Amino acid sequence: MTKFSVNDRPVEYRMDPETPLLWALRDASNLTGTKYGCGTGDCGACTVDIDGEAIRSCLVTIAECEGRFVTTIEGLSRDRSHPVQQSWVAEQVPQCGFCQSGMIMTAAALLRKNSNPSDAEIDAAMTGICRCGTYPRMREAIRRAGR
Ligand code: FES
Repeated sequence: MTKFSVNDRPVEYRMDPETPLLWALRDASNLTGTKYGCGTGDCGACTVDIDGEAIRSCLVTIAECEGRFVTTIEGLSRDRSHPVQQSWVAEQVPQCGFCQSGMIMTAAALLRKNSNPSDAEIDAAMTGICRCGTYPRMREAIRRAGR
């Protein structure tokens, strides 16, 4: 049994400890805002926050999460939209939308560390693969959320 926190709630998964976090979140916790895109760490659609870092949940086993604090898009904000979610709407970032929860989690982690990132810092952080090419709008949304 693997125990850790997801969205500020304790969870216990009775699954193979080598199960990727992505599948525990989606299949056992029904937190389907975390998306499966590639399963190889390239696309970023599965990004969640683990102890303050943006992490690709397809690459982390539940055993590696023991005792840690995981936040998904569902837990990013409690009572109203997170500033990054608000700026994503204001800048109309999503196109197909599939990878956007991962992109938002990545942007929120970036802004927690640096509220005024440069374009180069934004580009370095937003390393997922948005096939729609929404990166210019992501940049604007991140700048807006940081203000
Ligand atoms: Fe994890 Fe693509 S599904 S990076």
